[in-house]
Amino acid sequence: MSKALIVYYSRTGKTRIVAQKLSELTGADLGEIQERKSRTGAMGFLSAGKDTVFKSRVALTETPDPTPYDVVILGMPVWAFQPPAAMREYLRGTPLSDKTICAFCTSDGSGGKGTFKALEKILGEPLATTLDWLKPKEDDPALQAALEEWGAKLTAL
Ligand SMILES: Cc1cc2nc3c(=O)[nH]c(=O)nc-3n(C[C@H](O)[C@H](O)[C@H](O)COP(=O)(O)O)c2cc1C
Repeated sequence: MSKALIVYYSRTGKTRIVAQKLSELTGADLGEIQERKSRTGAMGFLSAGKDTVFKSRVALTETPDPTPYDVVILGMPVWAFQPPAAMREYLRGTPLSDKTICAFCTSDGSGGKGTFKALEKILGEPLATTLDWLKPKEDDPALQAALEEWGAKLTAL
């Protein structure tokens, strides 16, 4: 694989499970986006939905640098059928036009279709390949198999 970076955001750790497994399988580096605002508890859940639906500007405290990489794999939970506010903010401030961009989403039921579409609109280009996963769990053989298959695709980029 060309030099690849997994840039992910995770509120409750499910997207992190996928990001870490993918990194182990492909050797891609990992970078986590972090934001200043707390998203824990019921208030955090509500503010997460509100900031995402209204496309609010949010302050980021960690923004992985994609400069040395050819391939960037964006990982995120689906929030209100869209990329979470922190991922939108990251993409506002981080030019990726010279990269091959892929994406994965985790969600509880809706899947990532709307999120991938929104990402392509923000980026102004199609995603090279995507992976959509519901309710990831650490020791799920089906997730492992799907990541091995997707990892092989990524490695061929
Ligand atoms: C504000 C908010 C909105 C959400 N909206 C959706 C949704 O539209 N569809 C869905 O299936 N799951 C939705 N979820 C659930 C998350 O996408 C899901 O639990 C995800 O795997 C969490 O990933 P994380 O642990 O990496 O944060 C939402 C969660 C939050 C906090």
